[in-house]
Amino acid sequence: MVQTLTNKQIVLVSRPVGMPTNENFLYREAPVAEPQDRQVVVQSHYLSVDPYMRGRMSDAKSYIAPYALNEVIVGGIVGEVVASKSDKLQVGDKVLGMLGWQIYNVVDAGNVTKVDDSIAPLSAYLSVLGLTGLTAYFGLLDIGQPKEGETVVVSGAAGAVGMLVGQIAKIKGARVVGIAGSDEKVAFLKGELGFDEAINYKTANLQEAVAQACPNGVDVYFDNVGGVVSDAVMSQLNDHARIPLCGAISSYNATDGDLGPRMQTKLIKTRSLMKGFVLSDYASRMQEGAKALAQWLSEGKLKYEETIVEGFENVPQAFLGLFKGENIGKQLVKVTE
Ligand SMILES: NC(=O)c1ccc[n+]([C@@H]2O[C@H](COP(=O)([O-])OP(=O)(O)OC[C@H]3O[C@@H](n4cnc5c(N)ncnc54)[C@H](OP(=O)(O)O)[C@@H]3O)[C@@H](O)[C@H]2O)c1
Repeated sequence: MVQTLTNKQIVLVSRPVGMPTNENFLYREAPVAEPQDRQVVVQSHYLSVDPYMRGRMSDAKSYIAPYALNEVIVGGIVGEVVASKSDKLQVGDKVLGMLGWQIYNVVDAGNVTKVDDSIAPLSAYLSVLGLTGLTAYFGLLDIGQPKEGETVVVSGAAGAVGMLVGQIAKIKGARVVGIAGSDEKVAFLKGELGFDEAINYKTANLQEAVAQACPNGVDVYFDNVGGVVSDAVMSQLNDHARIPLCGAISSYNATDGDLGPRMQTKLIKTRSLMKGFVLSDYASRMQEGAKALAQWLSEGKLKYEETIVEGFENVPQAFLGLFKGENIGKQLVKVTE
């Protein structure tokens, strides 16, 4: 059966300088290999596009290897097993894995995780119940450690990680201020998610707006974006503030050095803790995070939002949209039903 299938693939053909363009990607068709013993064929349903992929498109040293040129790009995918030579997975099983940007992936069964789409829609395993939710959970709770009544500020607040960070901070009894890039996102954060305050960083005077939104200062700053947004928040730190450094998307496409205010004096005076992290640091605690997120979701304490682009050929556009703020919540691409 597999022999009759044609694959569609997206390949990285050149390393972007500055903002990636369509020319960095090549769309191609290819045959699908027959699965060998212990392998399955997974048909992609939803592909995740993520800001960290921009880093992997460069060849700079990082915590994760760069994508190889002329090979299929790899990312989070949920899909369905359509052929199996494994006794671990059957045709029809739904699975999650780090797989190629292609319609069909032929992989060892051990390289994907079976998921239960009766608990939540399949796409949720790429957002609230997946790496996104876990990033929010561990970064906020392990490094940020918000306490009742404290002020938590989150940048990239209407994005996939940020919208969960703010809600988890609310669950912990904090006062939550979100920073995002449009009035629509500000209204969403306050109206739909119950953030106490939200700021549009593209139109506000940031220093004034942060000071006004945080009259008692900032105890936790969950940083998704870096740059001028972070400069403004950091000026309002309280003593013993905690700053989980999750991402710095404002600089991912920068071609020159990004020099902001030097923060050492502020951090010393306030005895603040600023700590970078990557989710894989918490590999041994994933079960804990997954259980808590599923529990809050089932109790209705956690809402999630997805922006879904349809069609495999639109994957690069969806990825580029992350850098233009086109998404609210998790950006996904729906490939097949
Ligand atoms: N450390 C880890 O393990 C880990 C794991 C996952 C994600 N991350 C990082 O966490 C951050 C959020 O990731 P995500 O998956 O949740 O993405 P996301 O927030 O859903 O999407 C990216 C958002 O970033 C904002 N943005 C784009 N350019 C910006 C700029 N120049 N200045 C400020 N904001 C900008 C846009 O929203 P606006 O409309 O608000 O501009 C956009 O919607 C990223 O920096 C990512 O690299 C880190």
